[in-house]
Amino acid sequence: MSVDHKRIVVMTGATSGIGANAIKRIAAQPNMQIIIGARGVKNGPEGAEVIQLDLASLASVRTFAAEVKQRLGKSPIDILVLNAGVQTMDSTTRTVDGFEVTFGVNHLAHYLIARLLVPYMADDGRLVITTSDTHDPAMGVGGPKTLEPQALAHPGKHPKFSAYPASKLCNLLTARSFDALAKVQAPHITVIAFNPGLTLGTGLSRDAPRGVRGFMRIMRPIFRLLSIFKPQFYPGKPERAGVVLAQLALGEINLPAGHVCASLVRGKITFPDPSALAQSDEARDLLWRKSAVMVGIQDEPT
Ligand SMILES: NC(=O)c1ccc[n+]([C@@H]2O[C@H](COP(=O)([O-])OP(=O)(O)OC[C@H]3O[C@@H](n4cnc5c(N)ncnc54)[C@H](OP(=O)(O)O)[C@@H]3O)[C@@H](O)[C@H]2O)c1
Repeated sequence: MSVDHKRIVVMTGATSGIGANAIKRIAAQPNMQIIIGARGVKNGPEGAEVIQLDLASLASVRTFAAEVKQRLGKSPIDILVLNAGVQTMDSTTRTVDGFEVTFGVNHLAHYLIARLLVPYMADDGRLVITTSDTHDPAMGVGGPKTLEPQALAHPGKHPKFSAYPASKLCNLLTARSFDALAKVQAPHITVIAFNPGLTLGTGLSRDAPRGVRGFMRIMRPIFRLLSIFKPQFYPGKPERAGVVLAQLALGEINLPAGHVCASLVRGKITFPDPSALAQSDEARDLLWRKSAVMVGIQDEPT
């Protein structure tokens, strides 16, 4: 990626936690033009443009994407970082469009942003989607063993702890879908699914019940001990995860050929295979098709 021209970065989830740390580092590079999608009135790093974006509304996603394209004119996006996320554990919250909120915000909204903006990415661009190792049942934290997009979008009885890992499986499958597209491969766009690992001190659990938030606060030393045997419980810091997210987005860290997943384990970058379900082309294609219908992209077969 040449640094002679301004590199254009579009990012969600840049206002808090891991993303706020990442954008600080990205903004510190020379020749960057940064557009942040954020809800409410938010300030980004100096010089960053903020465009209103509520991921709980597909209309807001469409308006955001249209505004990005309008502001950029003919200039392509070099780096697209889809990092925003929620973990509510609430059985009732729905998006404006009626989807279960974790699925709607974490997956559907980002799927739609990617569908709308990837065609406007530069050759040698980079698409980074933040996922989580919780998508993997082997991690022991409720990762899904099957994929049923309709049930995730409109759950009957809400599976409190499994909605979030399932949404992160969807992020991973979406990354794999884009990675497989000829229109992504031909211009050498790199697709990365990034797992920051357990990262304490972010706002992710802000909407979780008080008991859960209190529990997470006192757990740091216990997680540290536990991580001796189970590395996925190593309690990382948002600063470190943010630096690695920025390095992946900027191309300072590259993945081995054929890999899509980058994962922070005990503060170190690794490139593991995701769960068996995340590697399934059948699950990947099913999610792509069903998501297209849900977001109203009519030209996709169901
Ligand atoms: N923390 C962890 O242990 C962990 C582990 C694995 C993966 N992750 C992933 O890392 C990413 C960042 O999470 P974090 O831990 O840094 O949490 P965070 O501090 O809560 O950051 C979440 C970001 O998402 C934005 N966001 C949430 N809902 C939104 C909406 N409806 N519209 C627009 N923006 C919205 C937030 O914006 P506001 O400022 O407006 O709230 C914030 O910028 C997420 O994708 C998460 O799933 C986190």
